[in-house]
Amino acid sequence: MEYTIRDVTPEDIPQIGQIETLCFSMPWTAEQLAGQMKDAQHEFIAAADESGTVLGYVGMMFVLDEGYISNVAVSPKYRRQGIADALIERLDELCSGHGLAFVSLEVRAGNVPAIALYEKHGFARAGLRKNYYERPREDAIIMTKFFESRQEL
Ligand code: COA
Repeated sequence: MEYTIRDVTPEDIPQIGQIETLCFSMPWTAEQLAGQMKDAQHEFIAAADESGTVLGYVGMMFVLDEGYISNVAVSPKYRRQGIADALIERLDELCSGHGLAFVSLEVRAGNVPAIALYEKHGFARAGLRKNYYERPREDAIIMTKFFESRQEL
C-alpha cells in the first residue's frame, strides 16, 4: 500500500468526516474537523494515497509544552497495514519539533486495538475518567507519553 503522510487539507475534510462516521458513535462534524487544521495550536495529519484517498488521520492540539491527541482513525478497509504506526511515528516527530514535554489522550476502556497501538508507541496508563463516554457509556483511560528529553525537567 503506497501512501504519504502529509498535512490535512480542506479538501480532505469530507472524506475524514465519512471515516469518523464509520469509526465512532459520536463522530466529529466537518466544522469541528475544520477547526483542527494545522495552525499555531494544532497538528492534523493524514495518510493519503496518490489519488488523494485519505486512509487515516491523527489530530492533536497543543498548548505550551502539552499535547492532546483528539482523533486517531484508520479507514476500516486499510487497517492492520501499519498506517496508524506511521501516523503516530510522524506525530512523535512533530511533538519533538514543538518541544512538547508530553502528549496525552483518552481512549475507551474496551478499545483493545487502540490501547495496544498506544502502548506500542510508549504511552502508559495515567488515569481513568469514569463514565466519560456515551453511546455506549464507558470509562475513558487516560494515556500519556512523556518525551525523554524533557523528563528530567
Ligand atoms: N488488535 C490488537 N492490536 C491492534 C489491532 C487489533 N485489531 N489493530 C492495531 N493494533 C495495534 C497493534 O499494537 C499494532 O502493532 P502490531 O501490528 O505490531 O501488532 C499497532 O496497533 C499498529 O497497527 P496498525 O496496523 O498501524 O493499526 P491500524 O492502521 O489498523 O489502526 C486503529 C489502528 C486503532 C487506529 C484502528 O483500529 C482504528 O481506526 N480504530 C477505530 C478508531 C479508533 O478506535 N481510534 C482510536 C480512538 S482513541
